[in-house]
Amino acid sequence: MAIPVLTIDGPSGAGKGTVSRAVAKKLGWHYLDSGSIYRSLAVLALKESVDLQDEFVMASLAQAMELEFDCGDELVVRLNGEDVTAQLGLEATGNAASIVAVHPEVRRVLLQKQKDFKRLPGLVADGRDMATVVFPEAENKVFLTASASERAARRYKQLIEKGIDANIVQITNEIEERDRRDSERKTAPLAMANDAHYIDSSDMPLEAVIEEVLNLIH
Ligand code: DC
Repeated sequence: MAIPVLTIDGPSGAGKGTVSRAVAKKLGWHYLDSGSIYRSLAVLALKESVDLQDEFVMASLAQAMELEFDCGDELVVRLNGEDVTAQLGLEATGNAASIVAVHPEVRRVLLQKQKDFKRLPGLVADGRDMATVVFPEAENKVFLTASASERAARRYKQLIEKGIDANIVQITNEIEERDRRDSERKTAPLAMANDAHYIDSSDMPLEAVIEEVLNLIH
């Protein structure tokens, strides 16, 4: 029996995580947050003070790292046995993840780990290259985006609500830099698949995005 896959790709801060989790829960499907794999590698590299630009060292770290995902109401990620969930959400981790994700050898090593998430009754996979590289066979593909200023504003609000000091100009700059790096890299850049359904969520409430995605499946 073919295992159904829904891919949701897009730039950082477009709401992919929230939408993917809600849709996966509604459908009772598994959930792959592929960004958390690159983020975990970044956490490991920062902890071991390894040069993020060193493709060979980063690929061997990626090969050796052991990840466990607990997909309850909140995603809990254990890296080599240690709960790293809190570190994964930091801005510095996201930026470092974008740097390590440029290396083709790192992406090659992590490919199978991502494919292994495809299990019955189905999978919602969120990332940058889910539709183009990891699950090109998926029958439902979404490209979810929003303007850079809207994504920065949402991120700013999230940080302030958590009591974390934030600067909107810095966040906007970091988002634009990350968009550029993720879209311009040679291997598996952020790109919309030809057969993907495009959603610009800039002026949409989250519930409307979730509904639009669910309508594609039904
Ligand atoms: O989705 P995210 O913000 O958690 O992803 C963090 C970084 O990881 C992102 O800037 C680029 C990289 N990434 C990737 O290259 N490919 C993916 N499928 C997911 C994330």
